Amino acid sequence: MKAVIVKQPGGPEVLEYTEVPTPKVRPGWTLVKVHGFGINHSEIFTRDGQSPSVKFPRILGIEVVGTIVATSVPDSLTVGQTVVSLMGEMGRAYDGSYAEYVLLPNAQVYPVTTNLDWAELAAIPETFYTAFGIFKSLRLQAGDRVLIRAATSGVGVAILKLMKASGIQLTVTGTTRSNQKDDALKALGIDVIIHTPDANHLPEGVGEFDKIVDMIGPSAVRDSLSHLAEFGIESATGELGGIWTLDGFDPIMDIPNNRYLTGFYSGDVDAKKINELFTYIEQHHVDVTPEKVFRLPETRAAHEYLAQSKGLGKVVVLP
Ligand SMILES: NC(=O)c1ccc[n+]([C@@H]2O[C@H](COP(=O)([O-])OP(=O)(O)OC[C@H]3O[C@@H](n4cnc5c(N)ncnc54)[C@H](OP(=O)(O)O)[C@@H]3O)[C@@H](O)[C@H]2O)c1
Repeated sequence: MKAVIVKQPGGPEVLEYTEVPTPKVRPGWTLVKVHGFGINHSEIFTRDGQSPSVKFPRILGIEVVGTIVATSVPDSLTVGQTVVSLMGEMGRAYDGSYAEYVLLPNAQVYPVTTNLDWAELAAIPETFYTAFGIFKSLRLQAGDRVLIRAATSGVGVAILKLMKASGIQLTVTGTTRSNQKDDALKALGIDVIIHTPDANHLPEGVGEFDKIVDMIGPSAVRDSLSHLAEFGIESATGELGGIWTLDGFDPIMDIPNNRYLTGFYSGDVDAKKINELFTYIEQHHVDVTPEKVFRLPETRAAHEYLAQSKGLGKVVVLP
């Protein structure tokens, strides 16, 4: 099969489109024909060598949509069935989705019923699952003033779309470092745009928010908390600032009184939660269109596109 393999960590140039043996089904595993996958920021970190547990050579790709080709559990999974999968060490401990076929542990093959096309479906698993997890944790109420930090990221756009489709009356503000993306953000329904050349600090005078989605992460969390209204909720779920942990974090002093700090981890996933997400998308007619579509031999270009931060939303690859 054709696949995109990384033999040693580095820039986008280490993504090598080549021929590799097609994996074979073995007990406990299912072979899936890849019809699409999204590109995720975490794969850029892994490609760069910032995921210490990942050994190379490795086919990256932490999510996939496709159809079952062969399975070790024909009583519970059906050949030809449309499935999605994400996380569970895919593209990290074992080869991932940047390929024509991917071999997955049976427990993380999630059948779905959908009328969406492959490009739309490919935009969903990791990004909308994460966005939906954040969305639920925020306990949104009519009148909430919401801030999305890095609103132009894949997850940022997905949560904006989920909020707009919810029908809850919200005022949604989004940050971006760019001054090229205002029109596209407005077309997605954002109410207010804040330009943050320094993504870690909000400009003076922006006021406070009832709910904050922080995709910048630990490097901005204290700044976000200082802009959270009383009884507000912040979800610190991204790491775009490139910092993973908060050293010296003092919950008593760093979380202002009567504010709530939460997070979301997309690795906590099962079939029931995936079904809940797909039901929500269908019932609320959530727009899941990806921003840009590449082909498998162009996966390197897809990484370059993300690295240049030109985009706005989800980038997918259709083999
Ligand atoms: N907790 C979880 O389970 C989970 C799941 C999925 C994703 N994530 C995390 O969520 C974040 C977003 O992921 P994604 O795949 O949606 O990202 P993405 O689509 O790659 O985001 C790209 C955008 O982020 C902004 N950005 C890039 N580098 C930045 C930096 N150094 N500082 C501030 N903004 C920066 C840029 O927007 P502008 O140029 O417009 O500012 C860029 O266009 C990542 O940190 C990812 O690891 C976490």
